Formats: sequence, C-alpha cells, structure tokens
Amino acid sequence: MLKSCVAWLTPLHSNVRDNHQRRMYFHLLHGRLPQSRKICSHARKLKATKHKNQLEGVKHAGRYHPPWFSVAPMMEFTDNHYRTLARIISKHSWLYTEMVVAETIVHQQHNLDRFLAFPSEQHPIVLQLGGSNLDNLSKAAELANNYGYDEINLNCGCPSGKVAGHGCFGVRLMLDPKFVGEAMSAIAAKCDVPVSVKCRIGLDDHDSYNELCEFIYTVASLSPTKHFIIHARKALLNGITPAENRKIPPLKYEYYFGLLRDFPELQFTLNGGITSIGQVNAARKQGAHGVMLGRAAYHKYELSVVFDKIAWSPQYACLGSGFPLCSKML
Ligand SMILES: Cc1cc2nc3c(=O)[nH]c(=O)nc-3n(C[C@H](O)[C@H](O)[C@H](O)COP(=O)(O)O)c2cc1C
Repeated sequence: MLKSCVAWLTPLHSNVRDNHQRRMYFHLLHGRLPQSRKICSHARKLKATKHKNQLEGVKHAGRYHPPWFSVAPMMEFTDNHYRTLARIISKHSWLYTEMVVAETIVHQQHNLDRFLAFPSEQHPIVLQLGGSNLDNLSKAAELANNYGYDEINLNCGCPSGKVAGHGCFGVRLMLDPKFVGEAMSAIAAKCDVPVSVKCRIGLDDHDSYNELCEFIYTVASLSPTKHFIIHARKALLNGITPAENRKIPPLKYEYYFGLLRDFPELQFTLNGGITSIGQVNAARKQGAHGVMLGRAAYHKYELSVVFDKIAWSPQYACLGSGFPLCSKML
C-alpha cells in the first residue's frame, strides 16, 4: 500500500522524498493524510480499521505504562528461577519470560501452570508468545490472561532455524506485517492488558529503514499495539547460529532513533548491545523511551542494581561518558 502511495514521489531528491514519506507515515497513522494526496483504497481501508482499533485500544489506555528498563526474554535463561533472582536484585525492572510457543499452551491446557505460573513478586512481568497460527495465538492469549501478566508480547525477532526456519515465525514474521497486525489484534482481543511486539530492524535483504517503517506502521494500524521493542540489528537467515546473529549483523541505533522521530505516538524500547550505565544514560538523554538488556542483565547482574538506582535517584542519571549513544542519525 505504502509503496504505491509514495511511488509518485520517486523522481524527487531522496532527502526530500524521505521527508515526504515520513510525513506520510505520520499522517496515515493519525488519519490526517493531506486532502490533496490521492489515497488509494487500501489506505482508506486501513484508516477505517485504525479507527476501530483506536477504540479498542482505549480500554488499555489507563493501564499502559511501557517499561523504561527491562530484562529481555531469553530462552533457557529467563525462567522462573532466574526471574525470582532478578526481582530480588532489581525492584523496578520489567521482566520478560522466555518465549512460550502458542501451540505449547494450547496443547498443554491440563498443565498450564508449568508454562505460565509465576510468583506474584515477579510483577511487572511480560509473557512472550511465539507462533504463526492466528487461532493458536489467540487461544494462547486467552489461556494466559488468567495468569495476570502485565503485558503480552509477540516474538518477531528470533532467527533460530527451528523458529524462523521450519517454524516460520520469530523474525520471519517481519516479512508479513499484515499477519502480525492481525495476530496482535487477535491477541489483544483475548487479554485485558497491553500488547507489544519485539522485532529486529529487518532481515536479510529486507533491511531498509523504509521497510522497517512499513512493518511498524502496518502493525500499529491494524492492531492496538503501541509498544515495540527494537533489537537494533537485522537477522541473517543464512544458516549462522542464533548466537552469531547477536554479534555479526551490525547494530544500527540510528534506525531506532528514526522510529522515535517518525512515530511520535508510539512507544519504543531500545535493545541490543547495551552493556553499561553510560550507554543507558546516553540513550535516555537522546530520548529513548525504554532500554532492554539481554546478556548484560544476565552476566553482569550488578548492573540491574544500578539501573534501579538510575531510575529512581537523580544523582545516578548523570553517570556516563557524555557522548551520545548514536551519533549518526538517519
Ligand atoms: C540465550 C538467549 C536466549 C534468547 N531468547 C530469546 C527469546 O526467547 N525471545 C526473544 O525475543 N529474544 C531472545 N533472545 C534475544 C534477546 O532478547 C536480545 O534481543 C538479544 O540478546 C540482544 O540484546 P543484548 O545485546 O542486550 O543481549 C535471546 C538471547 C539470548 C542470549
């Protein structure tokens, strides 16, 4: 849709075209496309759906507090035991579960506590779902709703062969933003809490900033999703291991800061390669809504203690090198 809407802008100089395009995302998301623009029928449909979803989103509005500091979902790491320890270390961080595949929840209905129960001290806690079957994602959200998670998240970033390869979910979902929008809408309809998406900045050759914008725009238009966690590197589905996929593709924080600028009504959490208090403070000073730590939260657990202090004690907020996290902007 977006491509056809902006196709007529192509002869313009690329900077000018990019500005037009950004404004277009903004206007489309707000339902305020300038009258002089020709809106294709697809865009009209999106506007109508958007209005419906905005109304649905209202029921979540009162409880919507995206986290400023969170511990990332990590398979075989952020299990119940780790999260209990993490909560003792850090009183305020939001804790994410490991990814739980929707089919596991649906097929283990007699055994749900094993996958979904957690002690109440772990609040605020987010359940991360994985999957690509709309019915199962919706059913899983419904079953999980009884457990009282604070947010339900969909994994659109995992590059592992089992998940993005045979499973056709994880980061592969970024190729089908419309499906993700519908899935998020289905999940949101079955739970009483906000929903969020965790994604990469792209995958393989689908790594342009515009493609990322199209993904965010489509998902936010089709569903009440207001919060996106951006792992600021793309995924490579060329057979490298998940661990290599967290090292080899370069970090592009400029994509994250571009999203902050271009989607001012959405909330974005920055993830990937953050390992120090200086980086967290630099990200906040540059306007980041939230920061998520993965490996560093696990391996340098003392950081979580300090992050609590940064959040609540002004004297810690000045720690850091004074350099911005991202000096190159789009
Ligand atoms: C052992 C391990 C398991 C992970 N499992 C998941 C997962 O289940 N879901 C997910 O979205 N990301 C998963 N990730 C990715 C992290 O959530 C995070 O995006 C990534 O590690 C980059 O952040 P970092 O540089 O702070 O570690 C995993 C990472 C690690 C190291």
